[in-house]
Amino acid sequence: MSELRFDGKVAVVTGAGHGLGRSHALLLAERGAKVVVNDLGGALDGSGASTGPAAEVVELITKNGGAAVANADNVATPEGAEAIVRTAVEAFGRVDIVVNNAGILRDRSFGKMTVEEFDAVLAVHVRGTFLVSRAAFPHMKEQGYGRIVNTTSPAGLFGNFGQANYSTAKMGLVGLTKTLGIEGARAGIKANAIAPIAWTRMTESLLPAEFEEKFTADRVSPLVAYLAHESCETSGDVFSVGAGRVARVFVAEGPGWRTDDLTVEAIRDNWEAIIAEEPHLPTTLGEQATASMKAML
Ligand code: NAI
Repeated sequence: MSELRFDGKVAVVTGAGHGLGRSHALLLAERGAKVVVNDLGGALDGSGASTGPAAEVVELITKNGGAAVANADNVATPEGAEAIVRTAVEAFGRVDIVVNNAGILRDRSFGKMTVEEFDAVLAVHVRGTFLVSRAAFPHMKEQGYGRIVNTTSPAGLFGNFGQANYSTAKMGLVGLTKTLGIEGARAGIKANAIAPIAWTRMTESLLPAEFEEKFTADRVSPLVAYLAHESCETSGDVFSVGAGRVARVFVAEGPGWRTDDLTVEAIRDNWEAIIAEEPHLPTTLGEQATASMKAML
């Protein structure tokens, strides 16, 4: 089988100074993409900034014979996001791939979480993904081609103690990815999301020690590269990935129950039927609405 390559393609990877983003950038560059390595270079909670991490990854890529430029702008501001995409266009003439990976944590139990902690996490994950994608979108539309890979999380898909801000942000990215998939379709732009598990500075204090060896970042990046490749036809989907396993994650809905006389008590009395798990998988809002129509027949 032929190798999947990215020769002639230009990729922006946000938060690529450490962890997963670094690994994505190295793989894309190794496969021939020209890469903008973006990283604000702050701490895990988003405080501080440094040009060091992005510059180090660029140095490694160029040492290995690849092409990359560093960028240390903040994904969460409109000016920062515009500057990241401008870096790609000025250095390499175009932008084909955006991997929205930058992220921070401000964990706190719900009762103690401050507005500032909530807003800061949404700003990087949700606003950051929106802003960088928005900056790249006109370029992709004009060339009739683009690939966007967003980074959600099992914590968003399933919830997690102490992560009200983070899980809200990460589930928000599922909605954004699905809508980008729909709106990008006519322009040849595909958008998907990964929900990874990997041993990085973000998870080293949360994951069991035995995960370090198996849940490596380089066992996530091949999925990012596949979703970023022109041969990938999928769009609007979410995939979990960790320790080499990849699985599609979908939103399912049970068969449901309906009546012409919906009352509070009728809901109580038919709860078992309402929560029954016999999934069908609506892939669009329209399909989901159709299921409600069908239940009337
Ligand atoms: P990491 O902390 O090693 O990497 C995140 C990078 O984003 C850092 O290098 C940081 O400097 C950069 N960054 C933070 N705020 C930024 C901003 N405003 N602008 C530009 N860069 C910024 O963490 P890791 O684990 O590699 O995380 C990467 C992504 O994967 C994040 O979105 C995270 O939420 C997500 N994720 C990671 C999981 C894991 O198991 N490691 C699980 C689920 C999701």
